[in-house]
Amino acid sequence: MHDRGIVTSVKSVKSVITGTGIAVGQNVVKNDALAKIMDTSDEWIRTRSGVEQRHYVNPGTGSTDLGRIAAEGALAKAGRTKEELDAVIFATMTPDHFFPGNGPVLQAKMGLRESMPTFDIRQQCSGFLYGLDLADSLIRSGKYQRLLLVGADVHTPFMPWHNNWDATIGRSDREATPEEYAENTKIRDRTVLFGDGAGAVVVEASDDDARGFLAAKLYTNGSNIEALYVPGVGFRRRPFVDRAQIDASEYIPVMEGREVFKQAVSKMPESVREVCASAGVEPSQIDLLLIHQANLRIVEGVAKQLGLPAEKVPHNIERYGNTTAGTLPILFHECLADGRIKPGMLVCFTALGSGLHWGAALYRT
Ligand code: UT7
Repeated sequence: MHDRGIVTSVKSVKSVITGTGIAVGQNVVKNDALAKIMDTSDEWIRTRSGVEQRHYVNPGTGSTDLGRIAAEGALAKAGRTKEELDAVIFATMTPDHFFPGNGPVLQAKMGLRESMPTFDIRQQCSGFLYGLDLADSLIRSGKYQRLLLVGADVHTPFMPWHNNWDATIGRSDREATPEEYAENTKIRDRTVLFGDGAGAVVVEASDDDARGFLAAKLYTNGSNIEALYVPGVGFRRRPFVDRAQIDASEYIPVMEGREVFKQAVSKMPESVREVCASAGVEPSQIDLLLIHQANLRIVEGVAKQLGLPAEKVPHNIERYGNTTAGTLPILFHECLADGRIKPGMLVCFTALGSGLHWGAALYRT
């Protein structure tokens, strides 16, 4: 640093993750339970996606409720009190309310300092990845010392609950009518993939040069948002939601599965290579690659393209399905808890999802 001609050396600030926590929906729903209400099978879901079960929240539980449990766990692990936080970043595509976002709701639920700034970000499946880069930037800029980053999503509200979904969480033993079965089958390519979950991390400033975030590369291409989007319930409509949209199921996400799959297996390896190049490391030096959990075949495809062995590419999609902004922090938390992540490891996060948004971040534990 130059100060009136005197040169002093300043240690660079790094951001480090000091605590993690997770929470998932209260109800475990196995593939067979879904096969009772739509034309699908355990075999199809396992072989095409790797999902064996997912967790659905109870009615009335929102993404801030899961986020709160995950956040409290992360604070406890970090050995920090809520008073020590400077700000919150909440990544979700399924907020409790259309507005305001989840930040202020979480602030009130957790009893965080009333004046604490909270950021609400979307970016869907890449929400946590974008949140990591934002947290790192805000800390390295010197603006904040300690942030709470939450990634949480509840997908069950997207599902048309009048079509006997309550049977999947044990709230009804009524069999689906032929009409309900047919309606549920129309959206089977999406509903079988998703579950409800949250992960949170505490990110703090550190002057330990050996640890922390090294680099991130984030990308967006909005030229085909229709590949994965919610067609209705938007403010271009007057009113933004009405009976006609609901009757036409326009609140349910639409997905071109094969197109998103193709993008995922090409863009994620590309961004991992790019983030490695920017940090001056080779992809082969990555100790653990944490990939957004959308489909086990995508996870395996990305690992293969990067030449990484299975033991470096953990997955938990079989237990949780795709929890959108929740997948990366849940996976990170589990790998820390079971010792797969050890100090000094090079961990790479990568994700791709609706937008399309995608990217990768490198972190030294
Ligand atoms: O995190 C957000 C990003 N999302 C993703 O990354 C998702 C990416 N895409 C995928 O994971 C896969 O494309 C899916 C799992 C969604 C679908 O797998 P696929 O191998 O691409 O299947 P497909 O869409 O080509 O469908 C094959 C067949 C079709 O039947 P026909 O036309 O061959 O008779 C589908 O109707 O499988 C049928 N199908 C199902 N069958 C039983 C679709 N969903 C189901 C189902 N159960 N749940």
